[in-house]
Amino acid sequence: MTTTIALITGANKGIGLETARQFGARGFTVLAGARDDERGLAAERELRADGVDARFVSLDVTADASVREAADWIEREYGRLDILVNNAGIARGNPASETNLDTMREVYEANVFGVIRVTNAMLPLLRRALAARIVHVSSEVGSISSMTDPASPLAQMPASLAYPSSKAALNMITALYAKDLRDTPIKVNAANPGYTKTDLNRNSGFRSVTEGAEASVYLATLPADGPSGILWGHLWSADGPADAYGRLPW
Ligand SMILES: NC(=O)c1ccc[n+]([C@@H]2O[C@H](COP(=O)([O-])OP(=O)(O)OC[C@H]3O[C@@H](n4cnc5c(N)ncnc54)[C@H](OP(=O)(O)O)[C@@H]3O)[C@@H](O)[C@H]2O)c1
Repeated sequence: MTTTIALITGANKGIGLETARQFGARGFTVLAGARDDERGLAAERELRADGVDARFVSLDVTADASVREAADWIEREYGRLDILVNNAGIARGNPASETNLDTMREVYEANVFGVIRVTNAMLPLLRRALAARIVHVSSEVGSISSMTDPASPLAQMPASLAYPSSKAALNMITALYAKDLRDTPIKVNAANPGYTKTDLNRNSGFRSVTEGAEASVYLATLPADGPSGILWGHLWSADGPADAYGRLPW
């Protein structure tokens, strides 16, 4: 049996690092992408100390050359990729009426264009796997239905523009990659980690990273009859159970 090779972007901390840990526990070889060498090597050391077969890959999702070099390196070292988790992301933003375009560009560069840049660079390697899985780490705040449903707790979220709209774009991007690749064994899905305690939200989330990584791991390990082109993960309803999972509305 050959090992499963999984690349995670933004794997040096938060949900990405924990996803690497959970992949490692399943015996996968984890290619831990990080834009900063020191932080990436520290994550590699931490994962290896936990028994994970982890290798740091220098990867800034906003930089063409960095992404190309990462793809070339994976091609030379492994010749294919079984799992890609587009996890790297940033959160910034102001209310719509106060948003400036520099903030929008910065957020979209990482959360939207970065995902397309990395996915297209890795697709030749993913096509060489038997049945590759691509996971876009999105968010329930990118669900237009949930954000505008007065009964949803998400309706109470501030009307910050950049981050939620970047995840809404990512949701459509997920649906269209799935459509484009529907005649292949590759599945493309969007994960909702739920509101998870990480640096992204100054550790204000109510879910642990162990819980936050579950949606990515689930979608990365879907069987052949699993779905493609959906948003799946934690369900946060006003009265529902705190640990419910399932398909979210777009
Ligand atoms: N936390 C939540 O409640 C929550 C909810 C829904 C979705 N998400 C999504 O989950 C994903 C992971 O977020 P997190 O909560 O784990 O946040 P985090 O702890 O801030 O981690 C974000 C990761 O992305 C990396 N990153 C940022 N820009 C990058 C770039 N240009 N190139 C490569 N890596 C880059 C960061 O690297 P540095 O250390 O170098 O900055 C870090 O490793 C994000 O896509 C986020 O939108 C989070």
